[in-house]
Formats: sequence, C-alpha cells, structure tokens
Amino acid sequence: MSDYVLDLSGIRKTYRGGVEALKGIDLQVPRGCIYGLLGPNGAGKSTMIKILTTLIRKSGGDGTMLGKPIGDRRTLQKVGLLPEHAQFPDYLTGRQVIEFTAGLQDVAASEVQKRTDTLLELVDMTEAEGRKMKGYSKGMKQRIGIAQALVNDPEIVFLDEPTDGVDPAGRRDFRLLMKRLREEGRTIFINTHILSELEPIVDRVAIVSHGELLGEGVLDDLRSRKPDYHVEYEGALSPTTQASMESGGLIVSSGLITMSTSKAEDVQPVIDQLRSEGLVVSRVERKTQSLEELFMGFVDQSNVAVPPPIPGAPIQPSFLPPS
Ligand SMILES: Nc1ncnc2c1ncn2[C@@H]1O[C@H](COP(=O)(O)OP(=O)(O)OP(=O)(O)O)[C@@H](O)[C@H]1O
Ligand SMILES: [Mg+2]
Repeated sequence: MSDYVLDLSGIRKTYRGGVEALKGIDLQVPRGCIYGLLGPNGAGKSTMIKILTTLIRKSGGDGTMLGKPIGDRRTLQKVGLLPEHAQFPDYLTGRQVIEFTAGLQDVAASEVQKRTDTLLELVDMTEAEGRKMKGYSKGMKQRIGIAQALVNDPEIVFLDEPTDGVDPAGRRDFRLLMKRLREEGRTIFINTHILSELEPIVDRVAIVSHGELLGEGVLDDLRSRKPDYHVEYEGALSPTTQASMESGGLIVSSGLITMSTSKAEDVQPVIDQLRSEGLVVSRVERKTQSLEELFMGFVDQSNVAVPPPIPGAPIQPSFLPPS
C-alpha cells in the first residue's frame, strides 16, 4: 500500500469540446501535511479536486487516495470538501448547512449536534449560527463552508480557494485553523492563487499551469533551486564592465547587481571587480524567493519558447572584462 494519502500518476482530463485541463499529472502527498496546489486561472486546479472527489471523471491516469483507487465510495466518507464558489441553500441557517452535510456524510445522528457546536466555534460562527445564509457576508459563508467540510471528521480535506472573500483577520484565523487540523494528523489540500496566505503554513507545493506540473516539493527546497545574491554598490560602474556582466547573465541596475547563484564564492569576482573600479560595496545579501516570486518564475519559464537554464548550473565568471 502507498505511504501517501494521495498517489497520482499521469492524471489527465479532457473536457467535452476538447479543452485539455490536465495533461498527465503525477503527485504524491504525504500524510499530515498542508499541501498547496498553486497555479494561475485555468491551470487545472479545480479540475484536479473535482476528479479526486469524484465530481467529474478523469480521462486517463491512475491513482490512490488513502490507499484505495480514486473514486472508491467508502473512502469518500473520510474526505472533506469545500468546492470552488460553494453555494449552499440561502434559506438554511449556518447551523443547518453543517447539519445538512452531516446527513449527507452519514454522520451518526447522536453526534451531529455536538460536532456542529464544535465546528461553529472553530470557525467563530457560534453567534451567527441561527441566521440564514442569505444574510451572511462572503467571508461568513466561507467560514461555514470550511466547517461543513470538516463535519465527517475527515482524514483529508480539499479546500478550493478557501479564503476567497475572507478579510485579513479571517485569513489569519484560517491559517491557525489549518495548523490545528495538521496537528490533529489530517492532510489539507488547498487550491489557491493567493500565495501569500499559504506561504507561512504550507509544507509542500505543486505548481501547475496549462494542465502541466511545473514544479513540486518542499517550499524551501524549491526556493533553494533558484537563489539570488544581491550585491549593492555605490558609484558608477564602467559601461564595459556592465555590458560584460550582463552578457554573463547578471542583472545590473543602478547600484544593484543580481546574480542567480547559491554560492558565495561565485560572488567574489564581482566584488573584486567593483572594488578594482574604486566602487564601494555597501551590501551583499543572499535572497530567498517569496512563494510569489517562485511561482511567477515557474510560470514565466513555462511560457518561454527557449529551454530554461539548468537549475543550479554554476555561473561562469565570464563577465569580467579582459585584463
Ligand atoms: N466543465 C468544463 N467544460 C469545459 N472546460 C472546462 C470545464 N471546467 C473547466 N474547464 C476548462 O479547464 C481548464 C482548467 O479549469 P479549472 O477550473 O480546473 O482551472 P483552475 O486552475 O481551477 O482556475 P481558477 O484559478 O480560475 O479557479 C480551463 O481552461 C477551463 O476553461
Ligand atoms: Mg479553480
């Protein structure tokens, strides 16, 4: 049996009309982690969640969820879902929505009230529980949506754009809630393009665009594949040196040189050159990319026709002007 709660190989989806929403995705999601599926609009994120929760059928590929083939009905009882643009009946109260989902998920009648109480408290909706959904704000609806996704005490929870419409305080509460669910040993699979909210809590990410997987892994590992050094200097660089550095792949702007490398030794020739020209090196810093920069890097790279540089390839100090 697979060690992963999700173990997918070559998942494909072609919608009627010919849109290839997923073009063969391999993913392995370890148990008890917060997993982020990131990608721009139309990347295929919701399609993936819909396949995994059997709302639609895959066109190809294979996979297991909680050790059972995708689509296994019993397994779905251990799965929670907040769908994209979730719509719950307007005439139900927040409490009734949670109780309704409990009924669909075969939660024992004796358990329903207690669980609903706990969940309402968890998403800070106890006070508003008796009001109808139609009177709730967008963020309040999302909170109820998250609560109903947890009503069957799921081992894995799929949340499609969970903080859509949620205010900053609500997003902070959401992050705390996600951490708490992880501590309880659950796996949380989140689709989002609001990257900043995921960054502090996510364990692994997969980046998809146009139905293809562009990168996958622990955030820090992905970042260290594309590290930068920033060298700040005072004074004016000679045009010959600047041209030489730029032809060597460095980005030179006024007072700042950016090098795509993780090695301090690669930076030394640059510093030497600046000093030999009588310039003052005011700061040298190794930058790690934010999730946003990392994401944009992958997506931009997938949009260019020329093959991308090999990650981690050393920078040749070819920018140095001939002596
Ligand atoms: N029912 C459908 N019929 C035909 N094409 C569809 C259908 N649903 C989605 N698509 C197409 O499949 C592709 C992937 O859509 P999907 O909703 O999975 O993207 P997404 O990554 O969730 O985007 P977003 O961030 O906007 O929610 C898009 O090109 C979309 O137009
Ligand atoms: Mg979507």
